[in-house]
Amino acid sequence: MIDPWGSASLEYQELIEKFGVKPFSEILDDVPDPSWLMRRGIVFGHRDYERILEAVRKGEDFAVVTGMMPSGKMHIGHKMIVDQLRWYDSIGAEIFIPIADMEAYSARGIDFETSRRIAVEEYIANYIALGLDLSKKNIHVYLQSENLMVEDLAYILAGKVNFNELRAIYGFTGSTSMAHMYAPIIQVSDILHPQLEEMGGPRPTLVPVGPDQDPHIRLTRDMAARFREKFGFIQPSSTYHRFMRGLTGGKMSSSKPKSAIFLSDTPEEAEAKIRNAKTGGRETLKEQRELGGVPEDCIIYETLLYHMSGRDDDLEEIYDSCRNGTLMCGECKNNTAEFVRKFFEELSEKREKALRVAEGVLEG
Ligand code: TRP
Ligand code: SF4
Repeated sequence: MIDPWGSASLEYQELIEKFGVKPFSEILDDVPDPSWLMRRGIVFGHRDYERILEAVRKGEDFAVVTGMMPSGKMHIGHKMIVDQLRWYDSIGAEIFIPIADMEAYSARGIDFETSRRIAVEEYIANYIALGLDLSKKNIHVYLQSENLMVEDLAYILAGKVNFNELRAIYGFTGSTSMAHMYAPIIQVSDILHPQLEEMGGPRPTLVPVGPDQDPHIRLTRDMAARFREKFGFIQPSSTYHRFMRGLTGGKMSSSKPKSAIFLSDTPEEAEAKIRNAKTGGRETLKEQRELGGVPEDCIIYETLLYHMSGRDDDLEEIYDSCRNGTLMCGECKNNTAEFVRKFFEELSEKREKALRVAEGVLEG
């Protein structure tokens, strides 16, 4: 069982072996101009992505849905979802971004006013600052608690799912609150409502998420089948991405400030965190020249892998010269710290502007 509200990190391979997720590498060659996240294996798995490729090939309409639970501060690990949304925007998807304030209330005890504030000041501001134009007609951001179409559909869907199923998927017990038990069906409705007649009718829908969200995807696909006759739903497709590790080695998490670079950090703070990050270097320079470093164990390398967009050649060169002992960690860290500081200088400027329009996104 996978707990979408837990903190356990998932073995990526397990999702593929036990839950029927397919390796993304198998279809990578069929993607016309794959994003760097796809090319580098950060997007590692999928369900039914072929359906999305077909829609793209035929120039047909498709939807992308991916939400956010406004529970805390955004860190650079969260940036990747925005990068993916930008990519889907560039190939013509209609994009839905639910803000999971109902889920935050039921699973985390966060009240609705707080959720709204965090959503505006953190998430919406950062999404805009990271380059997603939320004022575009094809991009829809909404609060679950304010979307009556989503809530009404959820209630109808809830008519065909029972406690035994929810217990088997999520491990709910007799002491799980009714609100928490209802949260998954709201998310199912987030994902399926773009296919309602009044939203344009049935169409391929993609949900790009982290592997912890897969239980919701499985439930959604089941529910789509149960309501196929009534609504004509097409089973949604999904992709799964890896998460960048934390600066201290384990998971990057907002609740462990030392592990994360927050998007609201100053350029100086972000740079300092990079300079203190764990590398895959050797004890001495002499050893490093002889044996080379280990980029696989290096947070500096990982930062570049996830965030240095564009061509892969530069990255490959860093990888090779690290491995063969010609690149030393001092120089490599300097370059990366510089890259990160520049990125944060631009981001903080953009976020200041974004904050002024963020509130309007929910009104529009
Ligand atoms: N449960 C997701 C999270 O914890 C947020 C979410 C809400 C979502 N609705 C969604 C994700 C629809 C994907 C699709 O972050
Ligand atoms: Fe990491 Fe760079 Fe050192 Fe290699 S040279 S271990 S990539 S910091």
